[in-house]
Amino acid sequence: MTLGPAASFGEVVDRAHIVICCGTGGVGKTTTAAVLAIEGARRGRNAVVVTIDPAKRLAQALGLEALSDTAHEIDRERWDPAGDGAPDGRLSALMLDPKTTFDSLVNRYAATPEQGERILDNRFYRNVSGALGGTQEYMAMEKLHELHEDGGYDLIVIDTPPTRHALDFLDAPARLLRLLDNRIFRLLMMPTRSIVRVAGVAVQAFFRTISRVVGTEVIDDVVAFFRAFEGMETGFRDRAAAVQRLIAGPSTAFVLVTSPRREAVEEAAYFAARLQETGLSVAALAVNRIHPSFGAALPEGLRERVATLAAAPGDPAAAARLEAAYANLADFRTVAVHERAEIERVRTGIGSAVTAFVPYLEHDVHDFAALRQVGGHLFAPVPGAG
Ligand SMILES: Nc1ncnc2c1ncn2[C@@H]1O[C@H](COP(=O)(O)OP(=O)(O)O)[C@@H](O)[C@H]1O
Ligand SMILES: [Mg+2]
Repeated sequence: MTLGPAASFGEVVDRAHIVICCGTGGVGKTTTAAVLAIEGARRGRNAVVVTIDPAKRLAQALGLEALSDTAHEIDRERWDPAGDGAPDGRLSALMLDPKTTFDSLVNRYAATPEQGERILDNRFYRNVSGALGGTQEYMAMEKLHELHEDGGYDLIVIDTPPTRHALDFLDAPARLLRLLDNRIFRLLMMPTRSIVRVAGVAVQAFFRTISRVVGTEVIDDVVAFFRAFEGMETGFRDRAAAVQRLIAGPSTAFVLVTSPRREAVEEAAYFAARLQETGLSVAALAVNRIHPSFGAALPEGLRERVATLAAAPGDPAAAARLEAAYANLADFRTVAVHERAEIERVRTGIGSAVTAFVPYLEHDVHDFAALRQVGGHLFAPVPGAG
């Protein structure tokens, strides 16, 4: 059972040990992850943010110029320039490099350094370890586990990969387990002669087909790759299971990030439903890049006003300007009303979890000042539709 619905974003960063920011690509996951970690640190926690694909300028601001798989601490004056944060707070950041994480995992479970080397040198491994479907998702989970075990942090905020489907990330450990259980994988682990003996006609045909498409050399590489894994399966399997338990644990909070756009909202609603099915829940919802609502007037009322103004006597130029302004406002109100209607579709799926709204800022969020501005909205005392 995860942390459960929170009453505020403050509660999330105060109480959770692990915060997972999910949502579809481009909605603001990386931004939100950084903002949550900063606020956690400001509230006195030893926080780390694991970013996956930060925009270049955000990476620079966080001191993540080169891919480095280890966390580094950020100077306090950068994230707490006013010096009003809790004195014990600390903030670290790292940028996930799936390849490096995979390599260190291989080394960890290899029975001997030679076995590790054999895998890392394997051509197939070198080609796929960064690109293999789900690798990035799995490695993010893996890094999470490592920071949890050895990092000494009390708040770990993890950004999720820019996959189209937020759920790929959740499913990653299960997918690795499935791969290990896969019949073909098992066959590949056997000595060659047994493969020929045991493998059915279908599997042999399968290999012949692949060889024709990609060349026997590639197949040899693949077979050598899986063979090199001999004996390491158990380590991987246990680890994947532990990761799976960790993300469903009582101090893990899922923060769902969405934009008001229909596709993003649909994905968020689907994600919330899937979480619920597995007995987990969304702790908080961040609706990012929302257009301001400009009061409560209905667009129809504003459009009527435009019509009245057009018919009114007086200075025609001034009336025209006012008319244009009202028409503009009516358009904005239309967008705002639509956006809020969209958001209701996900709100019904998250129970009592808090929803915070972050406006569409005039600039990207690439430095601490802008992150602070976003934080001002997420952690506003009384969240409202604005
Ligand atoms: N509220 C906002 N207003 C304006 N720009 C934003 C806002 N939130 C995020 N951005 C910008 O949008 C881009 C995508 O955000 P990012 O956090 O990287 O999304 P994701 O990680 O979900 O792909 C970044 O350039 C970021 O600075
Ligand atoms: Mg991102």
